Amino acid sequence: MKEFLVLITTILLISSILSASASLILRKNMPVLSFDEGYNHLFGDNNLVTNSKDDGGKTVQLLLNKRTGSGFVSQDLYLHGFFSASIKLPADYTAGVVVAFYMSNGDMFERNHDELDFEFLGNIRGKDWKIQTNVYGNGSTAVGREERYGLWFDPSQDFHHYSILWTQSHIIFYVDDIAIREVPRSEGMGGVFPSKPMSLYATIWDGSTWATNGGKYKVNYKYAPFVAEFSDLVLHGCTVDPIELSSLNCDTTTNNIDILSSSESSDNKHTTLSTEQRVEMMNFRTKHMTYSYCYDHTRYLSPPAECVLDSREAKRLRQFDPVTFGNGPPSRKGKRHHRRNRRTDSMGTM
Ligand SMILES: *[C@@H]1O[C@H](CO)[C@@H](O)[C@H](O)[C@H]1NC(C)=O
Repeated sequence: MKEFLVLITTILLISSILSASASLILRKNMPVLSFDEGYNHLFGDNNLVTNSKDDGGKTVQLLLNKRTGSGFVSQDLYLHGFFSASIKLPADYTAGVVVAFYMSNGDMFERNHDELDFEFLGNIRGKDWKIQTNVYGNGSTAVGREERYGLWFDPSQDFHHYSILWTQSHIIFYVDDIAIREVPRSEGMGGVFPSKPMSLYATIWDGSTWATNGGKYKVNYKYAPFVAEFSDLVLHGCTVDPIELSSLNCDTTTNNIDILSSSESSDNKHTTLSTEQRVEMMNFRTKHMTYSYCYDHTRYLSPPAECVLDSREAKRLRQFDPVTFGNGPPSRKGKRHHRRNRRTDSMGTM
């Protein structure tokens, strides 16, 4: 009977993949853990607030005030999986504020860590938050792979879903179940494709030195506390023993992720996204992407090997920022991206 149910679930899953996004399916079918079940406090003492009375501890608030930011981390390490949160960002004046929802193993692998990031960058009043995604693999911190986008909604007015699907062959970032970026494992990327177990993190911190217009607008604590709310936290993947990194513990539903990642078409291209979803992704990127590392001539004289350049995309980005995306000589502007240590610094003073 149990096998039968598993089979039916699998068939339903495969058929629904054809029509709905993997993010939607996984989000709807995975249990939501309460904070105490799945996460640990990372920093910021009582700037992390769980409201256990309201909904069984499934909503978490992260506060940034003059004293400190705050953050939490998953109790387990995961090798591949699906990670999602419904997030409502602070409203009003939020320049310099950074909210991050990301996977990392930086504390286990100092020299060759992996990381998958959603970073939300605050703004001055009347201007929308920007959202940034990035990928580091095997310590590739000298090469940032940032992309930036606007959103088609105001992320401070309501909760919206932000999800990361990470399989052996793909990384897909989703916003409200719409794929916004796909990073296939490619020969060009080589060992840079994240392939070691990571934990999930959520943090809020002061990014005054770089987050808004390259550091022009700083956090103004007159508007503190800045409150980011997290709910519907989904953690789903193979958990890994932190001591014996090899031993995987996958529950049966984890196979769903394998199904999602293993579909391969005849031309050997992985097809986690349907044609329809891919069109949706391209539309999003055409309308909302404002920065891509692949076109940044001030940082990379020739783009990293995995970049597939598109002349229309290049032209569109050049209109935003002729210096960065033009063909001129490298300027000092590229420095605005060199800020990894600053995050470590700000977390170090917690
Ligand atoms: C990761 O980097 C280390 C050196 O830091 C290297 O020895 C190893 O081969 C790399 N792994 C992959 C998969 O490229």
